[in-house]
Amino acid sequence: MPKIVVVGSINMDLVVLTSRYPEIGETLTGEGFMTFAGGKGANQAVAASRLGSSVVMLGCVGNDAFGRELSARLLNEGVDTAWVDVIEEVETGVAAITVAGGDNAIVVIPGANHRLSEAHVQAAERVIRDADVVLSQLEVPMPTVLAAARMARKHGKPFILNPAPASALPDALYSSIDLLVPNETEATLLTGITVRDPASAEEAARSLLARGVRSVLITLGANGVAVIDDAGERHLPAHVVKAVDTTAAGDTFIGGLTAGLVEGMAMDEAVALGQRASALCVTRHGAQPSIPYRREIA
Ligand code: RIB
Repeated sequence: MPKIVVVGSINMDLVVLTSRYPEIGETLTGEGFMTFAGGKGANQAVAASRLGSSVVMLGCVGNDAFGRELSARLLNEGVDTAWVDVIEEVETGVAAITVAGGDNAIVVIPGANHRLSEAHVQAAERVIRDADVVLSQLEVPMPTVLAAARMARKHGKPFILNPAPASALPDALYSSIDLLVPNETEATLLTGITVRDPASAEEAARSLLARGVRSVLITLGANGVAVIDDAGERHLPAHVVKAVDTTAAGDTFIGGLTAGLVEGMAMDEAVALGQRASALCVTRHGAQPSIPYRREIA
C-alpha cells in the first residue's frame, strides 16, 4: 500500500456553536459545546487513511488525557503512531473553535506541537526513506518543516506543503516543495497578490512557481481550485453543498488529494477525490468526525 508520512500537528478541538460571533466585550449564550479530535496534521492523516492510504504520523502530544486520547484515536484510524512523541513538560495542543452560520473562527494553542523538532525528523529518516510522499503544514515549527522537506528531497520523495496557518516561508524552503497547496488567505500572504477568484489565484500561483515550487494548487472554498502544474493552468469548480461546518474542509481536501496522488492518479483525478471528500466533510460537524470514508465517496 502506498505510504504517506505526515509531519504535523495533533490538537484537541474545543468547539462552541453559536448563532453569530460575539462582539468584542460581549457575552453571548451559545447553542452547544463539543470536543473533537483535530489538528491540521492529524486531520490530513485521518483523511488519507479513511480514503485507503497507509499513513505514518510524525508529531508530538503532551503526557496528558488529551494526548492519550488523540494518540489512541489516530491508532484506531489505522494511522501508525510509533513516531508520535510524548513530551513531558508541555500540554497537548488545543484549538478553541467558534462555529457560527456554517463558518468558523479558530485560536490554536500549539503546546507540544511546537516541540516537534529537526531531531525528530532525523530520527525518522528511515520512515521518510520508505515513504511515497511526505506531507506537512505550518502548525509545527518552520525549521522542522524545512528539515522534513530536505529529508524528502534527499531520498527523492515528493514533498507536499499546506502552508496553514498562513505564514511567510523561508526562501530555502520553496525549491524543496513539489506541491504547494495554500488557500486564498495563505496565497495572498505568500505572494502579496490579493487572491479572490480563479484569475488572481492563477497569477499568485505563477509567482509561487517562479520561486522554485514545482506545482501549485490554490483552494478557493466554494469557488473550487486553481491548479498550475506541468499540464498547464486550469480551474476545477467545487461541488455545491449546504455547509454546516467548514472545519477541516481544507485538511480533508489535502488528505484526499494526497491519497489520490500516491495511488497513482493524475493531478485532476486526485483533486476530484479531494473535492468529493471535502464536500461531504462540510455537511457534518467537527474536524475528524466529519471526514468521510472511501465507501461514502463512491
Ligand atoms: O484545519 C482545522 C484544524 O485547525 C482544526 O482541527 C484545529 O485543530 C486547527 O488546527
